[in-house]
Amino acid sequence: MRVLVIGSGAREHALCVALSDDQAVSALACAPGNAGTRALAEAMPIDVADPAGIAALAADWRADLVVVGPEVPLVAGAADAVRDRGIACFGPSAEAAQLEGSKSFAKHVMAAAGVPTARSWPVGGAAELETALDEVARLAPGAPWVVKDDGLAAGKGVVVTPDRAVAVAHGTAVLDAGGAVLVEEYLDGPEVSLFAVTDGTTVLPLVPAQDAKRRDDGDAGPNTGGMGAYAPLPWAPQGLVEEVLATVLQPTVDEMARRGEPFSGLLYAGLALTSRGVRVVEFNARFGDPETQVVLPLLATPLGGLLRAAATGALAGHPPLRWRPGAAVTVVVAAPGYPERPRTGDPVTGADAEGVLHAGTALDAAGAVRSAGGRVLAVTAVGADLAAARQRAYERVAGVRLADAHWRTDIALAAVEGRIRVP
Ligand code: AMP
Ligand code: GLY
Repeated sequence: MRVLVIGSGAREHALCVALSDDQAVSALACAPGNAGTRALAEAMPIDVADPAGIAALAADWRADLVVVGPEVPLVAGAADAVRDRGIACFGPSAEAAQLEGSKSFAKHVMAAAGVPTARSWPVGGAAELETALDEVARLAPGAPWVVKDDGLAAGKGVVVTPDRAVAVAHGTAVLDAGGAVLVEEYLDGPEVSLFAVTDGTTVLPLVPAQDAKRRDDGDAGPNTGGMGAYAPLPWAPQGLVEEVLATVLQPTVDEMARRGEPFSGLLYAGLALTSRGVRVVEFNARFGDPETQVVLPLLATPLGGLLRAAATGALAGHPPLRWRPGAAVTVVVAAPGYPERPRTGDPVTGADAEGVLHAGTALDAAGAVRSAGGRVLAVTAVGADLAAARQRAYERVAGVRLADAHWRTDIALAAVEGRIRVP
C-alpha cells in the first residue's frame, strides 16, 4: 500500500514513524513534510490549502491511501477531492469537518445528539456580546469568561479570562474582523483529549491523552498550539473511555450519518471532566498535535491497516486495537518568540536523535536543519511508566540545540506526582 501523508508538523512526523512500522505500507510520502519526515518518507512540495493540488499529487504519486493531517485542507475539501479521484482518504468531507470548522455547527450537532457540552450564546454584535456576558455572570457569578471565535483560528480563537474587559476586547476584535463569536459557560476540571478512528459508522477510541496548552510552567502564559503531552492518564476515572464512547463519540458519529454528512477519519473530542460530569470543550476533525506524538507510540496495531479500514468503511471487521504497556511523554521545543512572533531560520542540532520528532524544520541549501516554525521539535519518549517516559523525554531535550529555544519543564509532572483531581 502506497500512503501519502499531507502536512508538515510533528503530528505528521509521528504518523510517518508509525506508518513506516507497518509492513503493509510499501511506500510512504509526506507532502510537504519537514526535515524530519524526509528520513522516512518522500518529500514533495504542495500547498496544503489546495484540495485540487492534493488530489492531483495523490493521483500522480499513485497513492492507495491519503492521510490528511491538518484541519485546513479538510475544511477546504481535500478529502472530497481525493475521493473524487477514486483514491481512499483518511479524513472527513468538508461538510463533516465543520465539526471543527464551525463551533456553532458543532453545538447544533451536539444538541441534536444529546451530547453534553458547555452552554453557549452565539453573538452577532457588540450589544449581544454584553448581553451574553451578563447572562453568563448571572448563571455563574465569579467564573472566568470564555469568548470564542466561531471559525478556524489556529489555536488563537479562544480567550478564557477573569477580566471582563479582556473578554469584551477579544469578542470585539473577532466581530470587527467580520467573524462570528460564541460566549460560553466556563468548564472547570482537568482536560482530556480522546481520539477516535471512525468510518462513519463504527467508532474505535484510542487511549486518552492530555496536552499542555499554555506556554509556561504551571499553566501560565498565553495559549499555544500545545507545549507537550502525555498518555495514558493514570488519574482518569475508571470507564472514562467507555462513557465518552457511549455519550459523546458514537452519538456524534450517528447524528452526522443521520444528517447525510457522515464523519469518517479522526474524531477528536476535547473534554473537560467537570464537577457536573464530562463535557465536550470542542471537536476537532483530525489527529491532535502534540497528543498524536504520545498516542501513536503506544499503539501496537499497524496504523496503515487501521486508517485504510476507516477510509474504506471496513472498521466493523477490524480486529480490536492492541496497545503497548507503558506511557509516552512529548515535550515541545519552541522557537524564541513563540507563540506571538516566532523567530525562524536558526540552526537546529541533535534533531536526528531517537524520539526527536520535527514540528517546524526545513533543510537549508547546505542540507542543514533550520527552524521553520514556532513549534520546532516534539521530543518524545516512551517508558515503563509516566515517570520513566518523562525522565527520558527530558534527557533527550537536553541533547538538542536551538538558540534561545524555550520549553516547559513540567510536562506530565502533576500526573506523575498524583496532583490531578477530577472534581
Ligand atoms: P478550543 O479552541 O475550543 O479547544 O479552546 C482552547 C482551550 O481553551 C481549551 O483547550 C480550554 O483549555 C479552553 N477552553 C475552551 N472552552 C472552555 C470553556 N468553556 N471553559 C473553560 N475552558 C475552556
Ligand atoms: N492539541 C490541540 C490540538 O491539536 O488542537
